[in-house]
Amino acid sequence: MDFPLLLAPDSPLPLHRQVYLGIRAAVLDGRLGRGQRIPSTRALADLLQISRTTASLACEQLTGEGYLEARRGSGTYVAARLPEDYLPPPAAQARPASAPPALSRFGARLADLDPPPRPAAGLPYDFSPGCPALDAFPLDLWGRLLARQCRAASPGQLGYGADPAGHGPLREALAEYLRRSRAVRCEPEQVLVLSGTQQALDLAARVLVDPGEAVAMEDPGYPGARRCFLAHGARLLPLPVGARGLELDALQGARPRLVYLTPSHQYPTGRVLDLPRRLALLAWAREHGARQARGPLLFEDDYDSEFRFEGRPLPAMQGLDGAGTVLYSGTFSKVLFPALRLGYLVVPPALAQPMARALAVSCRQPPVMEQAALAEAIREGHFERHLRRMRALYGARREALVAALSARFGDRVTLLGANGGMQLLAQFPATGPDAELVRRAAELGVGLSPASQCHLAPGPGQGFLLGFSALSPARIREGVRRLASLFC
Ligand SMILES: Cc1ncc(COP(=O)(O)O)c(C=O)c1O
Repeated sequence: MDFPLLLAPDSPLPLHRQVYLGIRAAVLDGRLGRGQRIPSTRALADLLQISRTTASLACEQLTGEGYLEARRGSGTYVAARLPEDYLPPPAAQARPASAPPALSRFGARLADLDPPPRPAAGLPYDFSPGCPALDAFPLDLWGRLLARQCRAASPGQLGYGADPAGHGPLREALAEYLRRSRAVRCEPEQVLVLSGTQQALDLAARVLVDPGEAVAMEDPGYPGARRCFLAHGARLLPLPVGARGLELDALQGARPRLVYLTPSHQYPTGRVLDLPRRLALLAWAREHGARQARGPLLFEDDYDSEFRFEGRPLPAMQGLDGAGTVLYSGTFSKVLFPALRLGYLVVPPALAQPMARALAVSCRQPPVMEQAALAEAIREGHFERHLRRMRALYGARREALVAALSARFGDRVTLLGANGGMQLLAQFPATGPDAELVRRAAELGVGLSPASQCHLAPGPGQGFLLGFSALSPARIREGVRRLASLFC
């Protein structure tokens, strides 16, 4: 019997693979026609002088992939339709460069957003805001906590069984910590563990806001929040942050679904929302919530209130709310490190389940080992010890920056928001377009972030955010010295 297959004795391929490839090639180039009968594995073994097992292995793979088909009681045949018949013709596979795949409305809106700023790479005097002192993070201790979790984990903990709302012990540790340190009113069931505030914003927008609905937010305000709400199709309602802080007049007669705010350290101005206005906002949300089915909810972003250098911190707004109108978010990006990607959202009890369902269809849950290690770090006091060390370190760095700016620029600079957090807002006389000043600063080795990117109507002279937490006092002084030539 003639069979179109020759085996190469010196081939490095195993015999069954050679047989598989040889028959497949013969089928594809037509030497074995569609519907043609293939010798039985016993006959094939005799023909090719191979074992029957080798012949069977090759034929089983070809049958499994659809090149051959076994007909009960009759034998094995080349399939009438080959797998290649189901592929589009080569011309259709090559999509012309001018026709990218069509996007959803959400996808198209993403393309319209201004891209998030990329951190200045490798500048020695980088004043980018919001970056902790990464070189002061106790990596050894963190490594030990993680290793302990890995050693203790049971096989069951490595599976799909974890709660999408977060690791139970971490939710408990967080609820206790937030009640004690920020007067947040919460039970562990209300705490969702997320991969940071950005996910909290996305989750709130997805679960609560329909495209076309209004979201009110501070102007200037956090660009990460603005991009998220716009991506979800929200209409933005600006709430101006003036010399007296957040102005609430724009809310009169408006019906936003969500109000996003940073009351404890407004981003970027650093202003603190005073108690009367906090109470007024909560009363407004409560009244409208009672009257409207889709009444307003407040999103309180408490991103850096752990660092407070002057005066006593006001407790979280969430703790003043008795009506379930506040979603409270916090992050470990500032107090530990951003790449950890862990944060939390405390939601009114009625929202815990819908939010957990939304998490189950997206990320399932943040990595369990990191959550468990963090729960231990909080429970054993390492977290708050680190916080105390960073408060002292950032306090000294903040003083160095304020002193250096005052000495260099005197009354030609206005400083806002230096009372807390990890950055301040410095307003210099406008000496050129922001982009030009950023470029010239980079040439001097200095990284600058214009506050104009936080404004809905960017303009000149809105100032620059100067982060102080990641730079030593010596670098801060040298960086400020280099800035002098730009703003004088
Ligand atoms: C106002 C504000 N909220 C939240 C965050 C933190 O976001 P995430 O937790 O996603 O890192 C930042 C970081 O820059 C911020 O400036």
